Amino acid sequence: MSLVAAAGAAPMLALAQPAASGPASDQRTTVETQAARIQQARNQAAACAVCHGPDGRAPADSAVPGLAGRPQAELVESMLNYKSGKRPGTVMPQIAKGYSDAEIIAIASWFADQK
Ligand code: HEC
Repeated sequence: MSLVAAAGAAPMLALAQPAASGPASDQRTTVETQAARIQQARNQAAACAVCHGPDGRAPADSAVPGLAGRPQAELVESMLNYKSGKRPGTVMPQIAKGYSDAEIIAIASWFADQK
């Protein structure tokens, strides 16, 4: 299935249920939106796995620190400091610049949930 087809199908689905409003459908939309956000954060976090290990679990002998299960606030702070140049690094300052603050918060949340 192509992404274009998937993107095109979404508005049609929405149009197909014009009367479906009220608490139940609002709630479902929120859950679906939440699931989509988590999926997106997971996809973006996969880009970090090359260096930080699968799901952020670095091998014991790795020179790169693991990210899994670390507090979200700590990860966000590090990423924002790399992004602003406040914190020096070899590769992370450049990598951090590739993400919006909202993406950093979502990615950090995903890693924090990997126990
Ligand atoms: C090319 C390899 C590479 C990739 C890809 C990478 N990192 Fe890093 N990361 C490093 C290295 C190396 C360091 C140590 C600091 C430095 O040298 O820049 C680091 C450090 C960090 C730190 C600080 C950890 C600590 O203990 O202080 C965080 C947080 C972090 N990375 C998050 C991420 C996130 C989130 C991603 C994906 C969006 C990511 N990194 C992708 C190599 C990488």
